[in-house]
Amino acid sequence: MGSKNKLKRFRENETFSNVFQPTRSELVDSKFKYRGQWRKEVFKNVNPLVLELGCGKGEYSVALAQKYPNKNFVGVDIKGARFWRGAKTAIEEHIPNVAFLRTQIELIDHAFAEGEVDEIWITFPDPQIKYKRTKHRMTNAVFLERYKKVLKPEGVVNLKTDSEFMHGYTLGLLHGAGHEVLYANHNVYKQEGSPEEVTSIQTYYESQYLEQNKPITYIRFKIK
Ligand SMILES: C[S@@+](CC[C@H](N)C(=O)[O-])C[C@H]1O[C@@H](n2cnc3c(N)ncnc32)[C@H](O)[C@@H]1O
Repeated sequence: MGSKNKLKRFRENETFSNVFQPTRSELVDSKFKYRGQWRKEVFKNVNPLVLELGCGKGEYSVALAQKYPNKNFVGVDIKGARFWRGAKTAIEEHIPNVAFLRTQIELIDHAFAEGEVDEIWITFPDPQIKYKRTKHRMTNAVFLERYKKVLKPEGVVNLKTDSEFMHGYTLGLLHGAGHEVLYANHNVYKQEGSPEEVTSIQTYYESQYLEQNKPITYIRFKIK
């Protein structure tokens, strides 16, 4: 994408009522007014709150919001020019129960209060295979601790990935640390049993992996 196009999207994001772009200092200095207030102030209801971390263009968040009008969805990504797509679609199609937050996932517990979140989706994260990149892997122990902070005690995490490495790494870590694996499937379109929302919606990256005939895997778990 050209830089002109990106700038246009950044400018448009600023005008969208469903896009939130707190600065790092607003978040870390506890000045972000929606922390703990997402339901009441953003969605104006008391419905469950679901996050999609690393939402990219936001297709999953938008499609889930359409499928579950009685839940609220927030797509989180550091790249505003990507989620501009989902935010614009939500505005054009009048989908009130989805919003987008531009931030680093590392700051997630500064954007959401303890126990504010019911469910998390992590869709096609970069597996960060190299050892020195482990700290950026979105299911490492430090990230799981952050997710645990914002999730309700009964909250669940869903991981969908094309990466055998990411799938195996996450399962190993969950079992080793005594977290609760509720369901795991190493090829969701071939092996029956996945929840409907796993196979009925595809993200942008997922569509590309499916064209290459890559198996898509899925894990649903609770962090203890
Ligand atoms: C491989 S893409 C997947 C996008 C989308 N979920 C999909 O399946 O099409 C990973 C996304 O995660 C975002 N991301 C990676 N690390 C992040 C971080 N630490 N904080 C916020 N976003 C991050 C990237 O900007 C990118 O949009």
